[in-house]
Amino acid sequence: MKEKIIQFLRTTQGFLSGEEISKSLSLSRSAVWKHVKHLREEGYKIDAVSHRGYRLVSCPDKLLPDVIKLELRTKIMGCEIICYDQIGSTMDIASQKAFDGVPEGLVVCAETQAKGRGRLGRQWSSSKGKGLYFSIVLRPKVLLQEISGLTLLLSVAVSKAIKIVSDVSVKIKWPNDLVSNQKKVSGILTELNGEVDRINFVIVGIGVNVNESKRFLPKEATSLFDQSGKKISRVKLLQEILREIERYYLIFQDQGFEPIFDQWRELSETLGKNVKIIQPSGVIEGRAIDVDSQGALLIEKEDKTIIKRTSGEVVHLR
Ligand code: BTN
Repeated sequence: MKEKIIQFLRTTQGFLSGEEISKSLSLSRSAVWKHVKHLREEGYKIDAVSHRGYRLVSCPDKLLPDVIKLELRTKIMGCEIICYDQIGSTMDIASQKAFDGVPEGLVVCAETQAKGRGRLGRQWSSSKGKGLYFSIVLRPKVLLQEISGLTLLLSVAVSKAIKIVSDVSVKIKWPNDLVSNQKKVSGILTELNGEVDRINFVIVGIGVNVNESKRFLPKEATSLFDQSGKKISRVKLLQEILREIERYYLIFQDQGFEPIFDQWRELSETLGKNVKIIQPSGVIEGRAIDVDSQGALLIEKEDKTIIKRTSGEVVHLR
């Protein structure tokens, strides 16, 4: 009901009378007032003037399902949204929900995470209200060996969304770190559940440093605020990321990964560089020359042999 009231207020120029709202929604005037009171508590600024009614002044930049859903305009990503003030990790909740059978596109986000995790067993620090920390449940029809393609798709989508909302240009450091001026601004974690020949679901976890000040970030990290000097609306950014993921996901379903890899090549910080790939099985060095049809990185070694890698830590040598 609150969502409907907000929808009315957003689509009305100026004031909307309490009577009109109560008639349209078959609510008593005092029930309308109670909803408006709750909305204000959630951070919506709503003017109330006697004989004129209510007017929406601004929406909060708080991660609330109703706020995120407003003008989201997606079909899959964000079909259901769950928001927490504080959680261990959004990955765990999303995974639990996926086991319970939720539809593809469910989003779990949090204002802060006590146990945010990153790739390769690292921690992901999630300072309250300063960043985006969310996970999406996906059920892609891909083979296990095509999962690298999906992670490249995600990094393209997030980097496009960041550019649209903040005007900050981010490059992709293979496999899916997003960097601005060589500093990390966003990371993507992909966790799978499946069998050798079948993927049941994928949980995609995305963390973005949005409005964090430089002094609270490690020296190898940055935030969109640090790069642009502007505070960025986290709600707008999350909406745009969901839209872009959906856009590229549909392209992938229709045309496969190749058109997405073309975008990835344009945004890649790694291609053409001499790199060192660090994996538990050992370290290899060579020049990153391309990605193959499944999204694996192709590295040309000094002896001209080409090897491919689907995971690991990359160090750019020059
Ligand atoms: C990385 O660069 O290592 C990936 C970082 C992924 C962090 C996000 S924040 C939301 C989701 N929940 C987590 O615990 N991790 C991911």
